[in-house]
Amino acid sequence: MLSKNITISENGTLEFAGYNTVELAQKYSTPLYLMDEEMIRERIRVYKKALEDFFPSGSVPEYASKAFSCKRIYEIAREEGINVDVVSPGELYTAYKAGFPMEKCFYHGNSKSCQDIEFAIQKGIGCFVVDNVSELSLIDNISKSYGVIQRVILRVTPGIDPHTHKKISTGSVESKFGIPIDNGDAVEATRKALSLKNVSLEGFHCHIGSQIFESEPFVTAAKVMIKFMVKIKNELGFIASTLNLGGGFGVQYTENDPVIDYRAKIEEVAVAVNEICKNENFEVPKILMEPGRSLVADAGMTLYTVNSVKEIKDYRNYVSIDGGMTDNPRYALYESEYTVYNASKASKEADYVATIAGRCCESGDLIQENVMIAKPEENDIIAVATTGAYNYSMASNYNRVARPCVVMLNSEKDYIAVKRETLDDLISLDV
Ligand code: LLP
Repeated sequence: MLSKNITISENGTLEFAGYNTVELAQKYSTPLYLMDEEMIRERIRVYKKALEDFFPSGSVPEYASKAFSCKRIYEIAREEGINVDVVSPGELYTAYKAGFPMEKCFYHGNSKSCQDIEFAIQKGIGCFVVDNVSELSLIDNISKSYGVIQRVILRVTPGIDPHTHKKISTGSVESKFGIPIDNGDAVEATRKALSLKNVSLEGFHCHIGSQIFESEPFVTAAKVMIKFMVKIKNELGFIASTLNLGGGFGVQYTENDPVIDYRAKIEEVAVAVNEICKNENFEVPKILMEPGRSLVADAGMTLYTVNSVKEIKDYRNYVSIDGGMTDNPRYALYESEYTVYNASKASKEADYVATIAGRCCESGDLIQENVMIAKPEENDIIAVATTGAYNYSMASNYNRVARPCVVMLNSEKDYIAVKRETLDDLISLDV
């Protein structure tokens, strides 16, 4: 089985986080997102402890909530004592309504409107991660009108290519995110930030990409960033106290992906950061990291019911399910690989080549092509593993398909964290 939270029950059905998936499918109906609360907490603790152990005091993970956003996840982040990263008024509002402390909330994004900034300041946002100089001026002006000195960090691009999928690679000079270091723009933006009266610059941020399995790109990024911070100290006399290295550590979607020891990888980054700071005679800054996927992805699983099996001889076998790109657009978008199980027949041999087809009127609506599962029949439950990140958060209502509910599982109970959308929800905004 792909992950330690996936097992097989005595009657041969698939279990997730100790729960029988076929029973959960009956209880809550399908499609159904499951989230293993204990695994989320365990991962958060690994990151938190590693940052505490290997970096200066105040170093802490910041959950990139674009990976999975609902009130419950911000409650968990609050209980675990970490920061969160939000990228929209929607994520911010969800965190706020969940009682997440706003001073621990970082507002990201390359395109913030006046209204977005004003809303965040009204709610008492902790820190803006500023993408560009226009935004910097806007934040300064709006902060002035509210009589606040707003904490900010500047997002800069270190010019690193982490060799991941180009749609999720963000650290290059020409990226739409951040201010390039290479051409001198980042120094000028820093100069500007330091000249403004209503922003208080704390440091710098970079995010190089996602689904990265090695520490090496982070080490390279950290080196570029620290050299940049040294330059800023020498040229502008400003000593940055914070370096945010972004998110991006990968997860295992299939047996072909490595399993990451996150603590060991963070330690490798720390060794390099300490060494370069020592060489440059620069005090080691507080380090923030922004994991999204690696906190929630393998804590998630999606269950579907098989509606039909269609065998096109000499071509392929379509197993059509009751969900698809509306609840998981990642195969359609990135051809992302997943591990698929026939949860109803988990102990049977996976000897049937299946293309798992979604229900949308779109040929590209597939969850996975030519995967091996136990031979399915109508009404079997299909489980797709590692769907905790960028599935619910990227779900849509295409074809007016209602979004599934999210059920959390812990050692005591299973409970609904997000309700299933109803048909009336779907028309609730129609005038
Ligand atoms: N910080 C920033 C500034 C980011 O842009 C991201 C992700 C993260 C942190 C978290 O990265 P993670 O640890 O989750 O890799 N929809 C794509 C992923 C887009 C990632 C966007 N930014 C997918 O489904 O693979």
